[in-house]
Amino acid sequence: MSEAIRTEDLKKIYLMGKVEVPALNGVSVSIDNGEFVALMGPSGSGKSTMLNQVGILDSPTSGRVLIDGVDTSRMDGERRAHLRLEKLGFIFQFFSLFTELTAIENVMLPMMLTGATPAACRGRAKEYLEMVGLGGRVDHKPAELSGGQQQRVAIARALMNRPKVLLADEPTANLDSKTSLEIIQLFRSLNEDTGVTVFMVTHEPDLGELADRVIMLRDGILESDGRAKEKPRGKKPS
Ligand SMILES: Nc1ncnc2c1ncn2[C@@H]1O[C@H](COP(=O)(O)OP(=O)(O)O)[C@@H](O)[C@H]1O
Ligand SMILES: [Mg+2]
Repeated sequence: MSEAIRTEDLKKIYLMGKVEVPALNGVSVSIDNGEFVALMGPSGSGKSTMLNQVGILDSPTSGRVLIDGVDTSRMDGERRAHLRLEKLGFIFQFFSLFTELTAIENVMLPMMLTGATPAACRGRAKEYLEMVGLGGRVDHKPAELSGGQQQRVAIARALMNRPKVLLADEPTANLDSKTSLEIIQLFRSLNEDTGVTVFMVTHEPDLGELADRVIMLRDGILESDGRAKEKPRGKKPS
């Protein structure tokens, strides 16, 4: 099975004026295509830093990140942006939707950036909004949607360019526990139905348990890595 994500001795030291703040102290992980992995650990352990590195939103101090077998460390900004748009979908804690745009317009954006026609973008956006259960809300603006619905819009948007990997940083931190569970179950079924790899930060243990594998960070070091269990491919567990 091929690797969706690979990090090699990843280090990140932030500079605060003259003070060095180590956030990642050499983390090596390998995540296969189609895995559903939860990244956990205490606050400040480096989870967001790790996700930003894997999402090539930021550059490491040293070490490498490979996405779908491609080494990103020597890429220029333009190639990195292209790789992000093509292979990665991002979901954040605060949904990060454009408040003036409707649900479908928000979802269309990433595909519009690839130069596709508005009609093609609208058609696919409608499909993905239906897939996340929002077929009846396409013309609503974010303020007219609940938190859980807004996060579903963000998930549909992240799927638009049919990414290899979905990266989510505490996607349920602003949702009540029932809605949180529904959102994680949505990730789970997208993973099973489409084969998309999911790498998700959470600090809620019962949500982490729904993943195939939990990677724990502590002080920027990999504390434990529960390797993937056997999982039936392409269908939901009975
Ligand atoms: N932009 C930044 N500048 C300086 N220090 C940072 C920055 N981002 C994170 N840190 C520090 O790096 C460490 C890891 O942070 P972070 O990755 O956000 O942890 P987590 O997401 O696990 O809570 C913390 O000590 C944090 O204060
Ligand atoms: Mg964080």
